[in-house]
Amino acid sequence: MRIIVGITGGIAAYKSPELVRLLKKAGHEVRCAATEHALEFVTRATLETVSGAPLYHDLFTGNGSSTEHISLKDWGELLVVAPATANIIGKVASGIADDALSTLLLAMPPERVLMAPAMNSQMWAHPAVQRNIATLKGWGVRTVGPAVGELACGTSGPGRMVEPAEIVEAALSTLHTPLSAQRWLVTAGPTYERIDSVRFVGNYSSGKMGFALAQALADAGAEVELVTGPTALSISHPRVHRTDIESAREMYAAATALYPTCRGAILSAAVADYRPAECADHKLKKQGDEGMTLTLVQNPDILASLGKMKTDGQLLVGFALETDNELQNAQGKLQRKNLDYIVMNSLRDAGAGFGTDTNKVTILGADGSRRDVGLRSKQKVAREIVSTVTS
Ligand code: CTP
Repeated sequence: MRIIVGITGGIAAYKSPELVRLLKKAGHEVRCAATEHALEFVTRATLETVSGAPLYHDLFTGNGSSTEHISLKDWGELLVVAPATANIIGKVASGIADDALSTLLLAMPPERVLMAPAMNSQMWAHPAVQRNIATLKGWGVRTVGPAVGELACGTSGPGRMVEPAEIVEAALSTLHTPLSAQRWLVTAGPTYERIDSVRFVGNYSSGKMGFALAQALADAGAEVELVTGPTALSISHPRVHRTDIESAREMYAAATALYPTCRGAILSAAVADYRPAECADHKLKKQGDEGMTLTLVQNPDILASLGKMKTDGQLLVGFALETDNELQNAQGKLQRKNLDYIVMNSLRDAGAGFGTDTNKVTILGADGSRRDVGLRSKQKVAREIVSTVTS
């Protein structure tokens, strides 16, 4: 891979040559770009020697052409800014390009930038810096650190640049993004079907499996549309776009609107098959000693509807939570609903299914394939599902 290491003026710049060395050792081509202030901490000769390439640090007199930021942008698959000072973070967030590195940063697509912030704890905590970091992340810039520890100013706290080895790991994980440029839809959680203004029919789904799938898809580089029923879970990833819904009909409306724009969908939500025929707009009162009969009507089947909408080149993955005749029932659903894969859970397996942190599944493919994923965390199961259905 071709990686640009951007260095700004912080004391941690003395670790940047080590970062360059480690990236080269891992087999990557590296070029360095530095600000004037960075060169107060680390010399041009050091950076050129470790990278084996001329340093980019002057917009006009540096290495010839005044459009070098564009050719360097085209050359680099990833720009790692380490250390990233409050100043460079603020400049990029404000669209300022007044030197070689900030100009390169504005030319670079945000998703190809990784920043390792380093500064004093109070500077890091300042609302301006936090706002700027949030802005960059919202555009797809990735960050690693800062770490908590001893700082150059003699204090201790968050603000230390993470160690070069950790930056290398973060850099390489951003390069392995096989699903970049793909959009995926994920449904998660339960649905609540209203009886009256304070009561509903629901189920025990926690949403954990769906959230883990959204995270795994985003980690692999995909843009994810996560449509979720009520859950206590949160997710923070620049590529996960969350839509909160309550009922099956709301989930149906969101999912059918989004699916045509997606490469694929994984429907893990525990959708209520039925809803009360009527929903009172006030709290229903007890009627003497009589019992109460609730009439239920059927909800739309979202998975089956997407199966009908599916076009060539689109993928559709469903879940099947079964109690008996698991394989036969799951295979039936796979065919009936026009799916590419079905992920089968058995409620008979301990540690699998609703509410747990673990799961145990079998992934059946329309092509007759079968992959058994033994009991493990929902995060690991999610990664297995994503790698199976996207390979
Ligand atoms: N599903 C859906 N819309 C529904 C019901 C289910 O999209 N109204 C999806 C779930 O997200 C899951 C799959 O369908 O991916 C299977 O759900 P499940 O309840 O196991 O199957 P059903 O088709 O409802 O069949 P049955 O209740 O007969 O087992």
